[in-house]
Amino acid sequence: MIEADRAGGRHRSLISVAALALLLLLSCTNCQARSLSAQAAEVCHSKMFWFMATTTSSSLEYWRYAKVALLSAREHSQNLVPVLIFGGTQDAASPEARQNIIWFREHGGIVYHHNLTFGSNLQRVVDKGVREQKWLQDVEGTYMRLDIPHIMPHLLNQLEERKQGLTAHINQDLALYTDADVMFFHEMNPCKLETPEVMAIGPEMERGTAAWTDMNKNSGVLLINLKGLTAVLPSMLEFSNAKDWDFQVTDQSLINEFFPHQDSQHRDLDQLPEPYNWKGYWGCSPSIVITHWHGPKPERCLPCYLEHRGEYGADIDAFKKVCDCPESYNELWRRAMALDGGGLYAKMMANQKMYALAAGESRVTGSWHESPAS
Ligand SMILES: *[C@@H]1O[C@H](CO)[C@@H](O)[C@H](O)[C@H]1NC(C)=O
Repeated sequence: MIEADRAGGRHRSLISVAALALLLLLSCTNCQARSLSAQAAEVCHSKMFWFMATTTSSSLEYWRYAKVALLSAREHSQNLVPVLIFGGTQDAASPEARQNIIWFREHGGIVYHHNLTFGSNLQRVVDKGVREQKWLQDVEGTYMRLDIPHIMPHLLNQLEERKQGLTAHINQDLALYTDADVMFFHEMNPCKLETPEVMAIGPEMERGTAAWTDMNKNSGVLLINLKGLTAVLPSMLEFSNAKDWDFQVTDQSLINEFFPHQDSQHRDLDQLPEPYNWKGYWGCSPSIVITHWHGPKPERCLPCYLEHRGEYGADIDAFKKVCDCPESYNELWRRAMALDGGGLYAKMMANQKMYALAAGESRVTGSWHESPAS
């Protein structure tokens, strides 16, 4: 809330409106004006935190994706302040993880050490014998995104202690979260997005508003309203405790099952525009901001698909014989071939290789046989 607003209609004059317009103009020249009144309540900041999360249990494959994501953001979206949340209950960080943390810092990222504030809730499920400790170590990283509202004030303090004024241009109401397996194609400009009530989230597999149904959202990219999520988190935890945290796709199922209106005081999720969580099997588009390796990945099946796409074309059975991939991946690849001949996947893969090389990863694509599908 800014002063002009707080004073109420009584004091609103032409002069304050003009001053406000000037302020908005100065604080965010890239901002696409909605309307003066819509923007009056929220000054648009030019910078925004962008969070990813890893733990002591994260695979090196995952780390490689995170490094590529960081380099792509640095090229295309410098208004983002990259933060890697790092935690985990497994004993200690591996030497490789420690190297990666150093790399991340050297490349302009912030690494924030953090364990889940609600880790004891998950531990209780283990203590009851419903799950094993290994389960906790596997899933805790996926729930880190829900702690972003808790982390933000600590992070802001840390940065201010480092240098006063460092956080002046950072949006303190909104934050971006992405999984590590994403890549930026264009600038992520928070000023171009409506502020969500709780979170803005995109569709899982199918495009279009009709497909954006209760159980069909993908939590890989989230635009988080920190106050909104803070308000709803206690009910989300209660809901999860009651279910012994038995979710098929961890945080994503929690979000899909909880919203909307498990607690009628709270509002529904908002729709994240598709370019912010774009899938390779949606085909080429000039408006892509963030691509997400949902389905075939650089180290899972994609190298094989791409290698044979000239040869096999639309003959999906030929791919199946040679590539030995999960049926779900084959189906997505079939869609990609039908849409643009796998053209976007080819472009994403070329970018992935370029960034991985720049990150000093000799192993850029790996083999599709080595990792289990997810
Ligand atoms: C997180 O938990 C692990 C294991 O319990 C511990 O070793 C580590 O220091 C904790 N990290 C933070 C930031 O509290």
